Amino acid sequence: MTHLSSLIDQAATACAQAKRGVALTGAGISVESGIPPFRGKGGLWEKIDPMKYAHIDALEADPEEVWRMLFMGIGELLRHAAPNAGHTGLRRLEELGLLQTVITQNVDGLHQKAGSQDVIEFHGSHAVLRCMRCPQRYDWQAVPLTMIPPLCACGAYLRPDVIMFGEPIDVGLLQRSQMLAAQCEVMLVVGTSATVQPAAYLPVIAKRNGACIIEINPEPTELTHHISDITLLGPAGKVMDELVARVAKLR
Ligand code: OAD
Repeated sequence: MTHLSSLIDQAATACAQAKRGVALTGAGISVESGIPPFRGKGGLWEKIDPMKYAHIDALEADPEEVWRMLFMGIGELLRHAAPNAGHTGLRRLEELGLLQTVITQNVDGLHQKAGSQDVIEFHGSHAVLRCMRCPQRYDWQAVPLTMIPPLCACGAYLRPDVIMFGEPIDVGLLQRSQMLAAQCEVMLVVGTSATVQPAAYLPVIAKRNGACIIEINPEPTELTHHISDITLLGPAGKVMDELVARVAKLR
């Protein structure tokens, strides 16, 4: 048995025994769906400077530039993306009664497309547009992008309902996520560099409350040596497939 295979066995045993499992996911889980991550080689932040285009100050100063440089490109990528084995594996763990909630930093909606029932969109959703002035929200698909930025019925600009740098996380979502982290017995941390707060702190909360932290990522991260109990070094789709198959055998 290879080292990875024996670690997947350990992870499967921990998952199969958990009454309350939670997943924290990041951009890496959607890489096999054709969506590039933010950091590292080929990452979005290599092509554009996040402080110039992904900060709330940039959006408020020049919404048209941010729409053209950031939102239009992401919208196009997400339009055709389909869930991969990483997403469907988490849905399967939920069906088996082992995973309560997916907390995702992703704005791509792929966990919901895969059928996961309880998804916390920690950084919002790119599928929803909201007005920069009034509380109105629209489905991205229902808004013709003939004019950039598109306009709300009230005449103000619309923006995707995502968290930009410099903006706070919704307090209700943050509190629920922290509570889930504190109560879970297993936390699966899949495809995140764990560098952006406050999401990156959720595995620390889980660990302090006695959870087993299982990390799935082709590369070691900030969590690997100090927080993760089991690190499965590999792409999310391939590793999740194997993990779920072994968990199912233990049930
Ligand atoms: P990052 O781009 O920081 O990290 C992606 C992680 O995915 C890295 O650790 C990669 O090693 C890993 N990875 C790459 N391919 C993978 C694969 N096939 N399977 C599994 N993992 C893989 O993305 P996040 O951690 O999600 O926030 O970034 C967090 C936040 O930073 C994002 O939500 C976004 C960004 O700025 C905002 O925009 C507010």
